[in-house]
Amino acid sequence: MWGDPSLYESTLAIVKELVAKELVAASPTEISVRVIPGISSVLALAAAHQIPLNRQGRAVVIEPARLLAAGMPEGTDDVVAMLDGHQTFASIDPEGLDIYWGAYLGSPDQILIHGDLATVREEILKVRAEAVERKGWIFDTYLIRRR
Ligand SMILES: C[S@@+](CC[C@H](N)C(=O)[O-])C[C@H]1O[C@@H](n2cnc3c(N)ncnc32)[C@H](O)[C@@H]1O
Repeated sequence: MWGDPSLYESTLAIVKELVAKELVAASPTEISVRVIPGISSVLALAAAHQIPLNRQGRAVVIEPARLLAAGMPEGTDDVVAMLDGHQTFASIDPEGLDIYWGAYLGSPDQILIHGDLATVREEILKVRAEAVERKGWIFDTYLIRRR
């Protein structure tokens, strides 16, 4: 699995179901589940850009990019978007927003771009498309931050 099991993963549910329904019945010894915490792409993103995810005393929202399509959530200045198959960052109003974008985080192929969303969004689209062409797949995660 990717990153940490606590964020947008069905791995734990699948493993628990397997243990409950299949393995336990077939196994002569007791089988239990142990969860080892991993490094989520969200934390890898923050570390790679050397930023905190939140501002002092403020909240940070982590959401699938389709929810960001409607714009920044009310009362939130920091949004981490995951699962973006439509490059949502390029279709929202960029006024007053910065982006911290990362692809293949934590791997030797890691790519990072950040800056004023209006200024760098075309560059991200280009770099992203080239990476997809080169590797055949991409996983990217980004923070949208209101200045
Ligand atoms: C099914 S979710 C899994 C998330 C994972 N459990 C985590 O903790 O990062 C898949 C999404 O996670 C993000 N993601 C996972 N691995 C990534 C990586 N190495 N670099 C950038 N984004 C990643 C992408 O937004 C991708 O669409």
